[in-house]
Amino acid sequence: ADDGYRLWLKYNLIKDVPKREAYARSAQFIALTGTSPILKSAAEELQTGLQGLLGKTVPIIANAGNRTGGIVLTNASGADVQTLTKEGYKLASRKGSNITVSGKTDSGVLYGVFALLRQLQTGQAIDNLSLAGNPKIQYRLLNHWDNTNGTIERGYAGESLWKWYELPATVDPRYRDYARANASLGINGTVVNNVNASARFLTAEYIEKVATLANVFRPYGIRIYLSVYFPAPKVIGGLKTADPLDPEVKKWWADKTNEIYKLIPDFGGFLVKANSEGEPGPQDYRRNHADGANMLAEALAPYDGIVMWRAFVYKADPKSDRFKAAHEEFTPLDGQFDKKVIVQVKNGPIDFQPREPFSPLFGNMPKTPLSMEFQVTQEYTGFATHWVYEAPIFKECLETDTYVKGKGSTVAKVIDGSLHQYTMTAIAGVANTGTDRNWTGNSMAQANWYAYGRLAWDHTLSSENIADEWVKMTLTSEPKAVKTITDLMMRSREIYVDYNTPLGLSRPWSGVHFAPEPWQEKSVRPDWTAIYYHRADSIGLGFDRTATGSNALAQYRPEVQKQWNNPETCPLPYLLWFHHVPWTKKLSTGRTLWDELCTRFYTGADSVGWMQKQWAQVESAVDPVIFADVTGRLATQHKEAIWWRDSWVLYLQTYSKQPIPAPFKKPDRT
Ligand code: GCU
Repeated sequence: ADDGYRLWLKYNLIKDVPKREAYARSAQFIALTGTSPILKSAAEELQTGLQGLLGKTVPIIANAGNRTGGIVLTNASGADVQTLTKEGYKLASRKGSNITVSGKTDSGVLYGVFALLRQLQTGQAIDNLSLAGNPKIQYRLLNHWDNTNGTIERGYAGESLWKWYELPATVDPRYRDYARANASLGINGTVVNNVNASARFLTAEYIEKVATLANVFRPYGIRIYLSVYFPAPKVIGGLKTADPLDPEVKKWWADKTNEIYKLIPDFGGFLVKANSEGEPGPQDYRRNHADGANMLAEALAPYDGIVMWRAFVYKADPKSDRFKAAHEEFTPLDGQFDKKVIVQVKNGPIDFQPREPFSPLFGNMPKTPLSMEFQVTQEYTGFATHWVYEAPIFKECLETDTYVKGKGSTVAKVIDGSLHQYTMTAIAGVANTGTDRNWTGNSMAQANWYAYGRLAWDHTLSSENIADEWVKMTLTSEPKAVKTITDLMMRSREIYVDYNTPLGLSRPWSGVHFAPEPWQEKSVRPDWTAIYYHRADSIGLGFDRTATGSNALAQYRPEVQKQWNNPETCPLPYLLWFHHVPWTKKLSTGRTLWDELCTRFYTGADSVGWMQKQWAQVESAVDPVIFADVTGRLATQHKEAIWWRDSWVLYLQTYSKQPIPAPFKKPDRT
């Protein structure tokens, strides 16, 4: 039975014998010139992969000499690799010769090996190969929101992977498998601790533990980063202030940075959540975000490390619109950040909702490199219970046109630096991993880790192709089942949106961000109620962000405003994001707002029943353990989809005073 531990690196024996034999003829040896730890990882991974896929041990030799029929791994420099960027790879093969996997760096070779293995895992031809891959984004990171006590903020797959209490003496072999999985996607950095950071991570005790993890990740081309607690100089340094302009504070950070680099020479840098949701920051000392970020950049100046400063800010003010906050605070600082600073922006203006418009910061900070923060962990998309394939969420944002430099100025082009010629590019995914045997709780959520990594490398890949690859590598190669499962994946997000937050609703949550609580009209903060977001009243529903309301739309270019600012033509998925719409208003579907809402809630919940039926059809094609696990989760999802539907409908009905439309109404009980 398959417990899901091996993720998409299963390397099960290829059942198609002629195909397997053809592969084997081209993979009689692995020739490796070079001895670096990364090259060694590459050769070992290839050997492990071939052992599984072909069922034989392929020897690693030092030099191919005149031999043909093997795989040659080279860190090359000549004309061959001229078109490659630093971490790019090239696969080439000709009949009667060898397969070459080349890169300009050892990491490039490692990524090439995984690309070659992917060819075999998905049943592609490997003769006449001519395939090159260059990452479009330079820093491709996972962000772990993990705490010292092993808990994970918004983690749904067990505890933290990092066993701080065992480190540095005991090194869980799982750390290496984690690194392999990330390297297979091209992820080259990981922030190991929560953005709501504990200062303890900067103590000598913890730096030593973190350094031990860094030693495991290094041979896989992965650098370690830390989230920092801004007042650390006070909390663990004994200083009276954490004012970023104070000379003693600057010195403290410089010394601390030196201490880190002594143990971790390739340390990646700092991630900072400051003056956000109550976390302290430079504003506590009447300084701004740039002052804070630049102070850390200065500490990192002697090293190859960066500062990732988050733009997730908003005020507890019932009259302001949270949507506008990051743009208001950050755009005036454009041009003031040190060259080592990148500002990390969540994909949407609020907080990882199942559907959000893109953050209006994208495109509006031409002089400051901006990075993308996506949430892989399913905080708002059903935890590890609901099956939501996230690639369409990521793609939707990346492909949206900001119009800041005319048509075609997509968010992706902001992030990959091509629009404003950013000197630095980065992307981050909030991780969904934990100590569950299958890493992600719901084994279908492995696809979200996979898809995030693949898109971080190349945002032009399609959601369908990524799903197809993942299914073949992870679940089955039986064509009908592959199709059924990818189809399910592709529809899963819209189904979730339909029963959870249709037509542009958002944030109907209680504190745990799971249970429906659209009726939550009071909270510790006025902007943490549900009604702050959906604005239901006797007239209608939705947040007016046009000129008659908060005018958040004015933060976008006129072309974008034009798409969204007219309630008659605003696409329905965004309608209630931007408009307060009367219950009785006829929409483009021919139904009134109320009837359309009910239709979405009901068909959404019913569609989970459809998902269950589709999944039942693949039983013979997938592993029984995974099949049973997903079957159980879908049953829960169905129950909870009905819970969502009923909560929303019954609550909104208290305002709309409309009956549930006939097709969905239960007959009266007699
Ligand atoms: C969300 C999440 C928090 C998290 C925050 C952040 O609001 O619920 O747990 O700390 O995002 O991204 O900083």
